[in-house]
Amino acid sequence: MLKYAQKEQFNQQGFVILKGFKNASQIEALKARALEIACAHNPDAHREVFSTDREKGPQADKIQDYFLSSANDIKCFFEDGAFDENGQLVRDLAQCINKIGHAMHDLDKVFEDFSHGEQLAELAKDVGLAKPQIWQSMYIFKQPHIGGKVDWHQDTGFFMTTPQSVTTFWFAIDDATLENGCLWVEPGGHKGPLRQRFVRAGRKTQIIELDPTPWPDETRAIPLQVKAGTLLVFNGLLPHYSAANMSDRPRNAYTLHVTDGSCAYAPENWIQRGKDFPVSGFV
Ligand code: FE2
Repeated sequence: MLKYAQKEQFNQQGFVILKGFKNASQIEALKARALEIACAHNPDAHREVFSTDREKGPQADKIQDYFLSSANDIKCFFEDGAFDENGQLVRDLAQCINKIGHAMHDLDKVFEDFSHGEQLAELAKDVGLAKPQIWQSMYIFKQPHIGGKVDWHQDTGFFMTTPQSVTTFWFAIDDATLENGCLWVEPGGHKGPLRQRFVRAGRKTQIIELDPTPWPDETRAIPLQVKAGTLLVFNGLLPHYSAANMSDRPRNAYTLHVTDGSCAYAPENWIQRGKDFPVSGFV
């Protein structure tokens, strides 16, 4: 599926952009299903926020249990700015959800259909995944006005294998632009060190600093402005971030994190699967 030049780009730059990978009806189906799940969320039962701010993020005590319970389930998380000082939602429920995670690809028919197929299987092989294993799915809303930033990070830190194999499949569900918080990457940055690891021990998670190499600045990072339906595939070591969405347009995206089953999957990774819910690939 990938041409030689695309494989070269993936190897040298750490990412490849595939325009029109999903068609409009596939995009609409996923978007509609995500909206249904968001609308069905009960904000009185769960008000957990997702944030990469360490005081508020998954490692913060108060949301730890809910976050961990989402590993092999379908759970909604709010935007940081979703509630006012009186604890009321600042707008309609569905416009306040930050993301849905983390096993829709195995538990929801619409997400399952979107996340599987021969085309993805072939692509996975082309980027070096001999035996793809999909550990995580996330539907990220990046809501208008309140869609939070996601700080610089490397996805490998969440899904360690030996050797490194995690690869991110990032589907643009809306057009992603500078205004609504498109992804920024550091071309070639996957050749640098892994800076942090996110690990789990029992009911606790924490971030471990591994390497002090600074995150890229504006001179080394580029924005990836892409149309809805585009698939961006990138090496788990590629540094990336996205700014807050201050515009009045959403920037929905859907991601899959995939490792190679022929590599050893670390027992400290926050998502684990048992025999009752085995990890599987694209077909
Ligand atoms: Fe990421």
